[in-house]
This record gives sequence, C-alpha cells and structure tokens, in this order.
Amino acid sequence: MLRMKDILDEKDKRLRMVSKEVEFPLTKKDKELIQSMIDYLHDSQIEELSEKYDLRPGMGMSAIQLGVPKRYFVVVNEIDEGEFETYILINPKIISNSVEKIYVEMGEGCLSVNRPVEGIVPRYARVTMEAYDMEGRKIHVRAREELAICFQHELDHLNGILFTDHIDKKNPFKGKDQYRAI
Ligand code: NI
Repeated sequence: MLRMKDILDEKDKRLRMVSKEVEFPLTKKDKELIQSMIDYLHDSQIEELSEKYDLRPGMGMSAIQLGVPKRYFVVVNEIDEGEFETYILINPKIISNSVEKIYVEMGEGCLSVNRPVEGIVPRYARVTMEAYDMEGRKIHVRAREELAICFQHELDHLNGILFTDHIDKKNPFKGKDQYRAI
C-alpha cells in the first residue's frame, strides 16, 4: 500500500526527469504499481480511509511521482458521492484541444507539492488524449473542465513540469481576465 512517504516531494530532482515511453506488454511491476496508484487515489478521496492511513487526497498520480520515469498516469475521478471512474493513460498525448482556457480558482494542488500555492495555471478547457491501455490497445479519451485540467497536470509530470512552473512568480494572478475560472 502506498503512503505519503512514497510520493516524491517537489524538491526531489527526479520529478524533473522526462519520463520514457512504455513498451508492451507491461511488466508485472508496472501493473502492480498502477494498481497501487489506483488504490491510493481511491482511498485518499474517502474521508474515513484518508484519515485512517494519513493520505493526502488526490485525483491524479504519475509514475514519476513514485520515482518511476515511465510515461503513464492514473486518474480516479469522483463522479458521484462514493462513485469513482478510473483512467489509466499510458504514453499519452494531446491530439486536440479547445481554444478556451480555464484555471482552478482555488489553485491547483499536487501530491508532490506540500504547501499552499496560489496563482493561475491556464489549461485547455477541453482536451482529447490519445493513449494506450494496460493491454497496449490505443484509446481516445475526451475530458473537459476539472478532468481536463487533471490530465494536463499529469501529462506535465511526464515531461518534468510541475504546476508551480506555470505561475508567474511576480504576479501569480497575471492574465486572470483572459481565462475562465472553475
Ligand atoms: Ni501533481
């Protein structure tokens, strides 16, 4: 079972690596890692479990956050109370995106950034991702709003980018009026 201590902190240089494409079939280790990522994200969003195991809530996690520089991430999205949908995207890329950009008004969060960070991170409001599933089949996933932001945030991790990199240091709310807050 994954715990907070297993997740790399922003100061860790490994988070700056560009992760490598995954080859199929997946190794047993990768399959197990993916399952542990799903479990963490799921449990962390259930209050009882997050308190019991001291898990910071998160909806997305990339392999590199566990020190594994491979191009995949997992997203567990709560669609209704206690009801979750899971996305596993391997070798993902954005194949189309909206012109419109949005940002999280409360500020984005990251399991690797253990401090409050304010400021605007502009993201596409809608994206279509192409990726591979665990069996190596090509998939297309369309996302909008919060889920689209989450996918872009995780894709950034695979390229060594943290959400804090997108925030203007001198003026964290620069360009506020150009984007829609969600
Ligand atoms: Ni993150």
